[in-house]
Amino acid sequence: MKKKSGISPLGIVMIIALVGAIALVGAAALANRQEYLREAAITPTPSITPRTVRITEDPALPTSTPTPRLFQMNAVGVEVRQMQERLAALGYYGGEADGQFGAGTRAAVEAFQRQNGLEADGIAGETTLTLLYSAGAQAFMPTPTPSATPETAMLSSGSQGEQVKQLQQRLQELGFYTGKIDGDYGKGTRNAVTVFQQQHGLEADGIAGEKTLKTLYSGSARQITVTPAPEAVQVLSGNLPLLVNKEHPIADDFVPADLVNMSEYCDASLVKIKYSGTRGVREAVDALLDMLKAAKADGVINWQVSAAYRSVADQRRIFDSNVKSYMDKNGLSRANAISATRKTVADPGTSEHHTGLAFDMTVPNTESFISTKQCKWLHEHCWDYGFVVRYQKDKEDITGFLAEAWHIRYVGAEHSTVMRDRNLCLEEYLQLAR
Ligand code: DAL
Ligand code: ZN
Repeated sequence: MKKKSGISPLGIVMIIALVGAIALVGAAALANRQEYLREAAITPTPSITPRTVRITEDPALPTSTPTPRLFQMNAVGVEVRQMQERLAALGYYGGEADGQFGAGTRAAVEAFQRQNGLEADGIAGETTLTLLYSAGAQAFMPTPTPSATPETAMLSSGSQGEQVKQLQQRLQELGFYTGKIDGDYGKGTRNAVTVFQQQHGLEADGIAGEKTLKTLYSGSARQITVTPAPEAVQVLSGNLPLLVNKEHPIADDFVPADLVNMSEYCDASLVKIKYSGTRGVREAVDALLDMLKAAKADGVINWQVSAAYRSVADQRRIFDSNVKSYMDKNGLSRANAISATRKTVADPGTSEHHTGLAFDMTVPNTESFISTKQCKWLHEHCWDYGFVVRYQKDKEDITGFLAEAWHIRYVGAEHSTVMRDRNLCLEEYLQLAR
């Protein structure tokens, strides 16, 4: 008998089944690939220009997760608002639930992720959203992790590491920091923190303490205000403030034009002139009086001017008497007494007081001006009236003088506001404008 050759009907059925299975697996793989590509397509590439991006679920995708797949910076919509509400309910978000994914929302998402053991990238993807809406979502705890060492509550010059990087990133988002994200709390970071503090009504000490960090990462943190636009510095370069310092002395016989006797000129209910006959340049004195009227309206009164215009001869008397005092009372040699004096008193011919545009502001019968409410008000508001706090702690290396909380200098509001916004002392500002 001839052996039957060929494929049996059962064999044919099996082959058809096998081909079908391969086709199904292939189709599934293709679908997966398409899903991957679609997902990649809806993940926006980083862009330098801020833009509004609406990211919603692709209707063609499997709908096993009812929540949107991914929200990140600049996303808008009802779902973002719901997410903000949820973050607020859990204590992570303190801002307005406005449906706009801004810096405050991102900080809240990051905080949620950190506390819930997720990668803190500030992007609300599927894992983050699923956990956020689940019963297992942990509410915000002010001291969340055991690693919350004192450093975490305060960053300052010299601090280094991941937290400084985060701080720099956040300051960059808000426009305060333009340097490298290098995790080193150097001069640039300190400047950025100082300006942030100035613009958020915080003590401007350049230290990112608890209060500053809290504000910085909250919904109430605002973008930097720069007034006027930096380009204006160039426009104004024809009319720059006068610079008098160690490198820019003034002629011995220089006397400013339009000096007024402040004892007679100033309203005594606004300011006491400590030494009768003290003079100042009219325009600067007018600005000072405008400023003190505003202070009065804010309930801050009891001001005194201890010094304004000084001739070169006046400055020589002050300088020499300081030197003598260091020698007599502290037993310093003449050379050492001169060095010590130079830290706080300008050499005759190099003092800003020669311009008639500088005023030493004090409070009658009060030793320490820096600890008064008048000082706080002055440092916050003087810029709006054309004055700068001329000798500041973080500029000592540049100005060459120890910080003087009381010494303000009139430069005009078009300059003082820029110097405030960009944290520039007069030397730095003039460098920039040239
Ligand atoms: N105390 C300031 C620096 C001056 O003598 O002009
Ligand atoms: Zn002074």
